[in-house]
Amino acid sequence: MSSKIVITIDGWSSCGKSTLARQLAAVLGYIYVDSGAMYRAITLYFLRNNIDFKKKQEVINALENISLEFIFNPASNKSEIYLNGENVEYLIRDLIIAEKVSEVAAIKEVREFAVRQQKKLGKGKGIVMDGRDIGTVVFPAAELKIFMTADNAIRVQRRFKELYPKNPNISIEEVKNNLEMRDYIDSNREISPLRKADDAVILDNSNLTESEQFEKALGWAKEIIQKKERS
Ligand code: DC
Repeated sequence: MSSKIVITIDGWSSCGKSTLARQLAAVLGYIYVDSGAMYRAITLYFLRNNIDFKKKQEVINALENISLEFIFNPASNKSEIYLNGENVEYLIRDLIIAEKVSEVAAIKEVREFAVRQQKKLGKGKGIVMDGRDIGTVVFPAAELKIFMTADNAIRVQRRFKELYPKNPNISIEEVKNNLEMRDYIDSNREISPLRKADDAVILDNSNLTESEQFEKALGWAKEIIQKKERS
């Protein structure tokens, strides 16, 4: 029997979910899937094609023309997302996308489209996926579920540091407003809102270094994997 497990990492925006997920996947030899990238790529498609996402049929038709794929890039050492054959990994990190993505991710048809693909990616186990509903909806039977959180001010600083080099005109206020808005929509939407799965472990990294949080999470994963190997 394979001792590979499924690890889910959910939590608020800019908690460092993807950093942790990528590190865990690398050391365990697992696939890493950034589910937020899928919602961001769909948002990019909608914006480019002037899709009125308040109109259900327009959304359904648009989704039929969207194909998403993750391809590993050895240069960046990560899987990057392709929208209809185009690498959009860097474009989707823009604040223009961040401003609309929560609205798009709240649409039922969009979630069904993304979740179907996410479930397929987890079929072979050996996967770390981060997002908002991975432990609750996508992989409710995952062996390790982590719910990440951090102080608001710390999250704003982290996101600002990430966006500033690309956009020196950006202000702390803009970043703060965007994070607050996304957290609000993500946790109050009707379908699959962000919430901690009952069996998830909380990882508050406000006062942890990247390596401390990694060691903690790796410890949890190893314990579960070893238990599985013994059974
Ligand atoms: O993780 P991120 O910031 O790249 O996610 C972008 C947006 O996508 C986020 O505001 C909420 C949404 N999202 C979601 O609703 N469900 C997921 N599994 C992942 C992301």
